[in-house]
Amino acid sequence: MADQSHDAVEVITTKRDGGALSTGQIEWVVDAYTRGAVADEQMSALAMAILLNGMERREIAEWTAAMIASGERMDFSSLSRPTADKHSTGGVGDKITLPLAPLVAACGVAVPQLSGRGLGHTGGTLDKLESIPGWRATLSNAEMMAQLEDVGAVICAAGDGLAPADKKLYALRDVTGTVEAVPLIASSIMSKKIAEGTGALVLDVKVGSGAFMKDLAKARELAEVMVALGTDAGVRTVALLTDMSVPLGLTAGNAIEVAESVEVLAGGGPADVVELTLALAREMLVAAGVTDVDPADRLADGSAMDAWKRMIRAQGGDPDAPLPVARESHVVTAPADGVLTRLDAMAVGVAAWRLGAGRARKEDPVQAGAGVVWHARPGDAVTAGSPLFTLLTDEPARFDRAMAALDGGWEVAAGGSSYEPGALVLDRIS
Ligand code: URA
Repeated sequence: MADQSHDAVEVITTKRDGGALSTGQIEWVVDAYTRGAVADEQMSALAMAILLNGMERREIAEWTAAMIASGERMDFSSLSRPTADKHSTGGVGDKITLPLAPLVAACGVAVPQLSGRGLGHTGGTLDKLESIPGWRATLSNAEMMAQLEDVGAVICAAGDGLAPADKKLYALRDVTGTVEAVPLIASSIMSKKIAEGTGALVLDVKVGSGAFMKDLAKARELAEVMVALGTDAGVRTVALLTDMSVPLGLTAGNAIEVAESVEVLAGGGPADVVELTLALAREMLVAAGVTDVDPADRLADGSAMDAWKRMIRAQGGDPDAPLPVARESHVVTAPADGVLTRLDAMAVGVAAWRLGAGRARKEDPVQAGAGVVWHARPGDAVTAGSPLFTLLTDEPARFDRAMAALDGGWEVAAGGSSYEPGALVLDRIS
């Protein structure tokens, strides 16, 4: 039980004036906010003070612990295999969880992936999977345990009992301009992952125009804080910093990202999606103590695909059913012969979102078939009149605003101009 000798104004003014919050202040304010005894306007002021004045590592660790203590903690220690999870800070075309979870399961490590729905320009894993006919996101804890033991991979919605303080605070941050505070992002992500009970965790911290963190230094700071929080909580945690200036793969949407993931599981798919899936799989296996399996072999021999089909069927989905297709499409063609020299992740993400693949408010529905397909990646040669983008939606009125989002987000330079591809994995923090 948190010490009751505090009040909201005293906690806010401590942080407003640049002070460090005491253990008692942190435990009290997180508990009181979750119970409704601290008002939204008071927590908004505190979140803004944290954004402006920061937090020491001790404060972040205690804030995270208080958010974990606000709800239940899951425990997978009774499973017959080790567990590892992955969390991405969110990117455009980031469908990596879909091939990754069954791949790692096929290598003998269980993946308990509690996911969210997308808000804004980055898509949500559950939205993508819900485009598969019959698939359901909600599982009881007992169903989750049984599926982890049997199939080895679960991707499902986090229940209301997990870090409820974060659920409330994240919704508030979203409407008060306080999402981008490193202490708040780190504690939000890590409270959920630690409460989820995974033994090992690999973080994919995105850097670039399509990510929360636009520059490498800020992304590295976030990764270091999260790795320290996980490690101190007994979770073997590693972070990769990966590029999100260009969107991943060739698709951003829901059903179209599922189709691309299935291509990867079938041994094909875009090279960058395969590279990142394998890099994260290798990190997860090592963090879980499995060093004698190469995930590339499990992709090649079809066992990752088998695990995918079993994972989808276990949650009511039909992995062989046709995926939904958008009713309308519009093709944008290359204006001249040349090389695609720029493709901006944010522009593509906003276009997909405006086509109906994402939502503006939590309660909005998403369109399963909507999104953007790009037919070239930076460095590829294009010819005048060849398709560059296909825009997909059920509502043609959305095309204009999606095209406005893409405007200025790509560039075709005259033939002969050179393009230098950057690395996908920029750094590793452990
Ligand atoms: N994802 C989260 O879960 N929390 C944040 O604060 C940001 C991204």
